[in-house]
Amino acid sequence: MAWESRSLLQMCRFLLVVILFLPSKTTSSVLTVNGKTENYILDTQPGVDESLECAVHNHTTDEELLWYREEGRVGLKSGNKINSSSVCVSSISENDNGVSFTCKLQSDQTVSISVVLNVTYPPFLSGNNFQTAEEDSDVKLVCNVKSNPQAQMIWHKNNSVLILEKDRHTIQQTSESFQLSITKVKKSDHGTYSCIASSPLKMETMDFQLVVSDKRTPVPTEAIIAACVVVFLTLCFGVFARRERIIKLCIKKRDPDRDTAL
Ligand SMILES: *[C@@H]1O[C@H](CO)[C@@H](O)[C@H](O)[C@H]1NC(C)=O
Ligand SMILES: *[C@@H]1O[C@H](CO)[C@@H](O)[C@H](O)[C@H]1NC(C)=O
Ligand SMILES: *[C@@H]1O[C@H](CO)[C@@H](O)[C@H](O)[C@H]1NC(C)=O
Ligand SMILES: *[C@@H]1O[C@H](CO)[C@@H](O)[C@H](O)[C@H]1NC(C)=O
Repeated sequence: MAWESRSLLQMCRFLLVVILFLPSKTTSSVLTVNGKTENYILDTQPGVDESLECAVHNHTTDEELLWYREEGRVGLKSGNKINSSSVCVSSISENDNGVSFTCKLQSDQTVSISVVLNVTYPPFLSGNNFQTAEEDSDVKLVCNVKSNPQAQMIWHKNNSVLILEKDRHTIQQTSESFQLSITKVKKSDHGTYSCIASSPLKMETMDFQLVVSDKRTPVPTEAIIAACVVVFLTLCFGVFARRERIIKLCIKKRDPDRDTAL
């Protein structure tokens, strides 16, 4: 019995808390952005200007509107705040892809509409397109790619699909690059590698030249040291063998009178 009444009491308390925290007056004001009542994705392109108009509906008094670019408040002119407000995103760039613009009701910031930009553009490829590698070294061809939607990537060699050798070729793909690694480069790896990006908008190709140079024979230091030692010893021996003549010459020079006597 005691347990039952206690749990009943707890339930009442819980209900009371719920009732107290329910919004006392549900806002009837509704927002629209460019006529839409829900968050949406705006498909656009680089260089385009987009204008977003936020408006309040079913309101009874002046309603102030706020605009945010991501988390940052957008500064609005005084005549562009009450009941309706427009922002213009001018000259959209590739970097604006994924950026959100949100309109909020100042009096109740839970009432809001977000627009996320989907900036579509054809593949743009870049990279170091001329590479020299020594035979037997490892080489990496990095094809940087920017594209929205993401492009399908493939490597060609000498104009046909590159046949990957399991032990020597590795392909790595991230959202921003497409890489081909070749271990222990051979002379036959020499040629033109094409990084090909296909998107629904366009197909783009970038050529990478790979030149495989002869393996440089490493200079053997032991041989050099040995040669030096031999040369040094030969010189010493030579000096030793001729020491008597050298000494004689010296004596001769010191005693010129003996020359005439001889
Ligand atoms: C405004 O309120 C009325 C009545 O509550 C509702 O029928 C109407 O859909 C609302 N307008 C908008 C734009 O939500
Ligand atoms: C905003 O809307 C309210 C309600 O419709 C209206 O009374 C008020 O005059 C409007 N204010 C402006 C600045 O348009
Ligand atoms: C962006 O637009 C492209 C082309 O219309 C589409 O393929 C892609 O799915 C869109 N991305 C998003 C996140 O909506
Ligand atoms: C690719 O082309 C280069 C240069 O024309 C040539 O040396 C190489 O052998 C070719 N490779 C293949 C696999 O055809």
